[in-house]
Amino acid sequence: MQLYQGAIFSHAPCANAVKLCELARELIEDAFGPLDPREVQDAMPPEQTAEILSVLKPKFIHHPKAKENIQGMLAELGCNLEKTYFDVPRLRTAFPGNYLKSGIAYAFHPHRDTWYSAPFCQINWWMPLYPISSENCMAIHPQYWNKPIPNSSHQYNYYRWNQQSRYNAAQHLKSDTRVQPRPKEPVELDPQFRLVCEPGAIYQFSAAQLHSTVPNTSNMTRYSVDFRTVHLDDVWTRTGAPNIDSACTGTSMGDFLKATDFSQLPPEALAFYQDGTECQLCPPA
Ligand SMILES: [Fe+2]
Repeated sequence: MQLYQGAIFSHAPCANAVKLCELARELIEDAFGPLDPREVQDAMPPEQTAEILSVLKPKFIHHPKAKENIQGMLAELGCNLEKTYFDVPRLRTAFPGNYLKSGIAYAFHPHRDTWYSAPFCQINWWMPLYPISSENCMAIHPQYWNKPIPNSSHQYNYYRWNQQSRYNAAQHLKSDTRVQPRPKEPVELDPQFRLVCEPGAIYQFSAAQLHSTVPNTSNMTRYSVDFRTVHLDDVWTRTGAPNIDSACTGTSMGDFLKATDFSQLPPEALAFYQDGTECQLCPPA
């Protein structure tokens, strides 16, 4: 599959993508009303914005309609829903300048999702919710597709992260002390491919691509939605992008839900990706 060889695809807005976009915008506009949500940085202190986001983001993530819209979108884009699994969509923000860059609004340093225990067959999907430009989007750094980067992913375990860090995101307002996998030496960000498309259009790329949040030099906050998918055949056959530099432990495979009935992957398939750390770090079921 071309995505496993570094290709990046984009799709024009389909009906369900537009619905997902509208749902997210409705929740955002409710949360920040009557302000234009793209200009909140000019109107309220970052502490207040962080507080609003700490309610808004989980509300979107767990909204039943969001799952239905993704299901519909995957069907419209020709995915086999019986074999496609997705995780819940995340709502992301990128504020201009230094307004709010950590914790709940973390501005992602260059990383591969596979440094964060993502499976190598994971495909990332990324969609802006309002018009964006190259000054407030995200970027892919394609020269690192087959160039290893010394990094600290060996310190990252997915289960430990879930236990200790994720739910505290809103507390990390000024700086982020959570241990995240990072490049151990400076990376050359150029050439970079900036993902710019209209609201509701969506980019698709491998979890192994090096990507980052573009420093927002515009005067508008960027709101986007992303989610991830895996295909059951690839899960079973361990088909995916090559691992050139990831050394994390644990797996996020348990987060993926079947696109038909939102059930988890078969236990035998999950077991295939477990490395023993789940026993030490997860409470018994
Ligand atoms: Fe990422």
